[in-house]
Amino acid sequence: MREVVINGIAETEAFGRRLGEEAQPGDILALIGDLGTGKTTLTKSIAAGLGVTEDITSPTFTIVNEYHSGRLPLYHFDVYRLDSGADLIDIGAEEYFDAGGVCIIEWADRVAEILPDDAKVIFIEYGEKEGERLYQCTF
Ligand SMILES: Nc1ncnc2c1ncn2[C@@H]1O[C@H](COP(=O)(O)OP(=O)(O)O)[C@@H](O)[C@H]1O
Ligand SMILES: [Mg+2]
Repeated sequence: MREVVINGIAETEAFGRRLGEEAQPGDILALIGDLGTGKTTLTKSIAAGLGVTEDITSPTFTIVNEYHSGRLPLYHFDVYRLDSGADLIDIGAEEYFDAGGVCIIEWADRVAEILPDDAKVIFIEYGEKEGERLYQCTF
């Protein structure tokens, strides 16, 4: 695992933008971390790196939001309200995974059992300092 120390929101934004610029069709980014660790902030930055021009809003109630204005389609999931991976399969997760876009899944630990083996996982924790975050990346 690669560990990245993030000092402040500007570094989250730079990290995310670069991920978005480098993202490939079919990439699945699984974000795992407590409330407020910055999953949505990171998602917005990835979207910016993909060239998405629409506003990104949290799909807490809709589970998934789609954006088609960037270099690749972006499918942004927030599975906080789901009980298991089976619930995500029910809403068509596998079609999104195979759609040739980029999937970002907030609270991915809730659906861990259905994540593809090649999903890129980022575990996010609070650091000790204000604005500090620790990323453990499987890629
Ligand atoms: N380094 C950082 N990265 C991301 N967010 C940060 C950082 N430092 C402080 N924050 C703040 O933490 C909050 C993160 O919120 P959000 O992205 O909605 O988290 P989550 O989606 O994980 O619940 C925001 O209020 C943001 O301004
Ligand atoms: Mg969020």
